[in-house]
Amino acid sequence: MTRQLRQLRETSATHTLCQRFQAVRDRTEFLVEPLSAEDMVVQSMPDASPAKWHMAHTTWFFETFLLIPNLPGYAVFDPTFGYLFNSYYEAVGPRHPRPQRGLMTRPSVDQVLAYRKHVDENMTTLLMTPLSDEMSSLIELGLAHEEQHQELLLMDILHLFSLSSLKPAYSPRWPKDMSGRRGHFKPLSAGLTEIGHDGDGFAFDNEGPRHTTYLQSFEISDRLVTNGEWLSFIADGGYHTASLWLSEGWTLVQEHGWNSPMYWQHDENGWKRMSLRGLEGIDPSAPVTHISYYEAVAYANWADARLPTEAEWEAAARAGLLEQVDDVAWQWTQSAYSAYPGFKPSMGAVGEYNGKFMVNQMVLRGGASVTSPEHCRLTYRNFFHAEKRWMVSGLRLARDSRQPGVVDPNDSEFARDVVAGLGAPVKTLSPKYFYDAAGSDLFESICETAEYYPTRAETGLLKGIAGQIAASIPAGAALVEFGSGASEKTRLVLDAAPHIAVYVPIDISATALNKAARALRQRYPALTVAPQVDDFTRVLTLPEEADGHTRVGFFPGSTIGNFTHQQAVDFLHRAHDVLGENAHFIVGVDLVKDEQTLVAAYDDAEGVTAQFNKNLLTRINRELHADFDVAAFDHLAVWNAEQACMEMHLVSRRQQSVTVAGHTFRFAAGERLHTENSHKFTVESFTDLAARGGWSVSEHWVSDAPEVALFSLRA
Ligand code: AVI
Repeated sequence: MTRQLRQLRETSATHTLCQRFQAVRDRTEFLVEPLSAEDMVVQSMPDASPAKWHMAHTTWFFETFLLIPNLPGYAVFDPTFGYLFNSYYEAVGPRHPRPQRGLMTRPSVDQVLAYRKHVDENMTTLLMTPLSDEMSSLIELGLAHEEQHQELLLMDILHLFSLSSLKPAYSPRWPKDMSGRRGHFKPLSAGLTEIGHDGDGFAFDNEGPRHTTYLQSFEISDRLVTNGEWLSFIADGGYHTASLWLSEGWTLVQEHGWNSPMYWQHDENGWKRMSLRGLEGIDPSAPVTHISYYEAVAYANWADARLPTEAEWEAAARAGLLEQVDDVAWQWTQSAYSAYPGFKPSMGAVGEYNGKFMVNQMVLRGGASVTSPEHCRLTYRNFFHAEKRWMVSGLRLARDSRQPGVVDPNDSEFARDVVAGLGAPVKTLSPKYFYDAAGSDLFESICETAEYYPTRAETGLLKGIAGQIAASIPAGAALVEFGSGASEKTRLVLDAAPHIAVYVPIDISATALNKAARALRQRYPALTVAPQVDDFTRVLTLPEEADGHTRVGFFPGSTIGNFTHQQAVDFLHRAHDVLGENAHFIVGVDLVKDEQTLVAAYDDAEGVTAQFNKNLLTRINRELHADFDVAAFDHLAVWNAEQACMEMHLVSRRQQSVTVAGHTFRFAAGERLHTENSHKFTVESFTDLAARGGWSVSEHWVSDAPEVALFSLRA
């Protein structure tokens, strides 16, 4: 890498870190906006801390670990704060007793805000200087630490408000947990799996080292246990049946008279619960929250199941089997919080961050409605003592496989499609199966390769014409996006069209959808975000939030090119039905161009697309108990000029047999497995296709070369 390039990369990394610093610090102040000064002083129990303390302690972290050692001439804001706002760092010195944090009437909230300002200004200066890797990591740690305290702040406020006779709402607009269907068990075959953080990007020290572990075959629920299911447990005497409980849990039930999750209360009208929106009815279809480990285990016993281990949880999440991964409630696992093989705490005082707590606590995985955006990872290890209930904790069931090691091929659509596709005369698989968690990550990496132009070209085009698109969308409209993923391009439209009232993202991946929905709600507080987890090619109805609004469809990304022409026509008809009479539909397509550009886009020099293609075999191995030798297949991208289509194949390097879900398939040397078509269009050919699907083109825009197009269709 040239020096200039390196400098450029470093400058942009610093710029990103500066922006992230600002955003995280601002969010803390945004979160305390609904609170009065009195709300911010009180400590409702020893586990909780006053909001004012959280604001000051997170600031103390940056002052103590970054500014004092690294910013020459830094003037400490107030020397007494080191004692007041140290949490548990023995290496840093003595501290104010934790249970007495609520007695700190001084410093005032205003002084704490001035402390934050002082530290932020000095941190901005520090962030402008060249940062060593160690300093950048410490800043990242400080930001992740502040995000953890943002969650604690919300948990602690809820606890405080739950004890108030007034039962105040922290915010009546705080989003409700998404309700939905009950969970289904999903099988995972026995085998070796890798868990833990791989060292790429930020993670806490306790998430590594990544290591191999063996899993027996098991089944895990794709969704969390609901309030409705918990009500059945209560009605069936769950809290009165000693045989369901661990001994310590049963003692707590007796001592505290537990008869429901924390924050639930019962009166003559039934059950209610305290939430950040205030006291409200229980939604039976939403996940249960605020339960201890003991309650989770008792419930699992009652349901003839168990809690997953953290390795099972991580393997299933990585395989894309789970919904409600990090958007509703942290999920208890049956794993005790202890060191991974080879774990070494970080050097210095921050080594006290995680390692010294590795005893007598249980691991929770995922993330919760109160977790800060972008804070979670599939490797994240949260931990609490088994009796705690004030965090947003829920549960997902697991159970040992009914027939260990055997996956019934008729059990899932995936298995049926793969068995049928490999058994066909020309072996074919649907490209929709590319997108497990690893496949989705790889697709994002493809979009960053120099050769894969469609995403960049479409984003550039959309930036240029967002104003025109916005002007064609009526005020109060509902924007319906098919296959929305992270909703990144949508932001360009939403920024240009603040008059859109409702946004309905539809995606098969609940994880991506919920993450995107949370981020959008935060960025566009006036917008109703009504996500729908669904296979967008099959959607027939929209959520009720879209009722009564003019609907505008949005389908960017040239994904329509991955359908056969007949599938595309059927999809366009269905979209017409869903969007209604006078609907308007904006569709992105890739255009026919020179073969060299096309082939390079699907066969990049770094081999990311090859990895993406081969990941399909890895997925089949993992989920369908198959034995593909992935290295015995080559990636092939070819331009089919007759069909105007980029094709991807996997080519068998040798004669071989593969077993999938109990079926054996033979490959000849050089035989192809066709994995994807990506149709390219001309303005005329797409206009024809749209007409066959019941739409006429009212306008279209073409990007600079390499060209992609956006079409505005009218029903
Ligand atoms: C998602 N879809 C539009 C991509 C495409 O270009 O057909 C998928 C892809 N396949 C290889 N690279 C990208």
